[in-house]
Amino acid sequence: MAVVTVPAEDRTIHDELGIQAELAPLGVDYERWDLSRVAEDASAEAVLEAYAAEIDEMKRLGGYQTADVIDVSPQTPGLDTMLAKFDREHTHSEDEVRFILAGRGIFYLHKDDKVVSVEVGPGDMIRVPRGTEHWFTLCAERRIRAIRWFQDTTGWTPHYTASGVEAGYQPLCFGPAYLGTRAETTITV
Ligand SMILES: [Fe+2]
Repeated sequence: MAVVTVPAEDRTIHDELGIQAELAPLGVDYERWDLSRVAEDASAEAVLEAYAAEIDEMKRLGGYQTADVIDVSPQTPGLDTMLAKFDREHTHSEDEVRFILAGRGIFYLHKDDKVVSVEVGPGDMIRVPRGTEHWFTLCAERRIRAIRWFQDTTGWTPHYTASGVEAGYQPLCFGPAYLGTRAETTITV
């Protein structure tokens, strides 16, 4: 389950309906999907096959043309450079759609004067509409595996806002064992 926080209001939300309600005004969709259909070490091809129905449905709903599986770990070459592209506020000219299979990361979403963070983990599906001001980084284990959907892969280039708003937020991941008592801090990239 994702963990949503509204830092300015000192609020944390960690139930599906509450998260959906918090993200709806931002135009962001959130759902829990069943993860039991594939083994943790399933190949990308097996993952795409297992979720073919959902992938096609998302394509139909969002006009997405392709889907793939991204797999990032601390051993990924150029990881720091990759993360540094996305940890400053930016927008995209297409939706950012992810179904998280493994690992954890944190999206910060910004609209008007409000910033909301969404820590995503296994089983979380999130759709951030094109044009949404946001930034993203991985949690401390620097691991994420996710299905991605694309309208056109060239559209997924970050357009930086240069607002500097991200400087006011220390990325904080609660971690998979979150019960309201444990916190872990993300690495700074
Ligand atoms: Fe992004």
